[in-house]
Amino acid sequence: MSPFARGQSLGGLLASFVFLIGCSSASGMLDPRSPVAAQIADLWWLLLVVALLVFAPVLGLLLYALFHARPDDLSTPDKKLEERLVVGGGLVMPILVLSFVFVLTVQNTLALSQAPTDALTIRVTGHRWWWQVNYPAAGFETANEIHIPTGTPVRVELVTADVIHSFWVPQLAGKVDLMPNKTNELWLHAAEAGTFSGYCAEFCGLQHAMMKFRIRAMPPDEFDAWLRAQQQLAQPPNDAVAQRGLQVFMTNECSDCHTIRGTDAAGQKGPDLTHLAARETLAAGTLKNTREELARWIRDPEKIKRGTAMEATALSDSDLNALLDYLESLQ
Ligand code: CUA
Repeated sequence: MSPFARGQSLGGLLASFVFLIGCSSASGMLDPRSPVAAQIADLWWLLLVVALLVFAPVLGLLLYALFHARPDDLSTPDKKLEERLVVGGGLVMPILVLSFVFVLTVQNTLALSQAPTDALTIRVTGHRWWWQVNYPAAGFETANEIHIPTGTPVRVELVTADVIHSFWVPQLAGKVDLMPNKTNELWLHAAEAGTFSGYCAEFCGLQHAMMKFRIRAMPPDEFDAWLRAQQQLAQPPNDAVAQRGLQVFMTNECSDCHTIRGTDAAGQKGPDLTHLAARETLAAGTLKNTREELARWIRDPEKIKRGTAMEATALSDSDLNALLDYLESLQ
């Protein structure tokens, strides 16, 4: 390999390293907004330093060998030095470094799994490809947008209705898998108000990347107001068109899959739509919650989210408009 080619591959290596750093900060893990996430980020930086302390000398030796190779050197190698390098660099050092990393990681994992028992509990169920969100103590259900109060730890119970998913809000906590026949838990603790992006972090099929959610952390009094609003049953349709919209909902199989509390719609397969209009997104973070997008979604979900369980509904324009009127009234 020519020195130029060697320089080029080294440049490529550096470029991909810089690219990887860019990726991790984009996901927010290195911009923590909770004590737990801050501890994880600190651990990440420490592990990076340890990795660099190992990587740099190894790379140095490699470069030395590449640029200072003397194929015509026939002197006898120093057996003792070779032995020391192999035992020290290949045995002693890895044992020391890996033990250090192991103890540190286990310590952190144990510390992060402890939290008070009287906290607010939210039950999150993973579905392909959306998140069912229950507030058991308050007695209601919503989807894909999880509201929590700031300044208090929130216990999140994680279960799945189908395959393995993984719940990850990089700025607030580590990731925890949702396993079949098992309840896992995780603690969310937002130090400040804000909206934080959440992702499914375990490949779960076609729309794995479109299984997003968001955490809205709000001051406790605002959170209580939100909780009370969500507990309410759906408002009855406020005019004749919306009334017809509810009829369309009941007679076109929408109600087989969706619940609207306060009506006869009690389907369990899809998200609870009681307060659909209060949400910011549709289809687990896939679309903005606007009238146009909602119309597009109802007409042909398969076109927007291939593989989704929601089926297309053949509605006349006026039926669709009535349905949209009704759904948009569900504040
Ligand atoms: Cu659910 Cu990936």
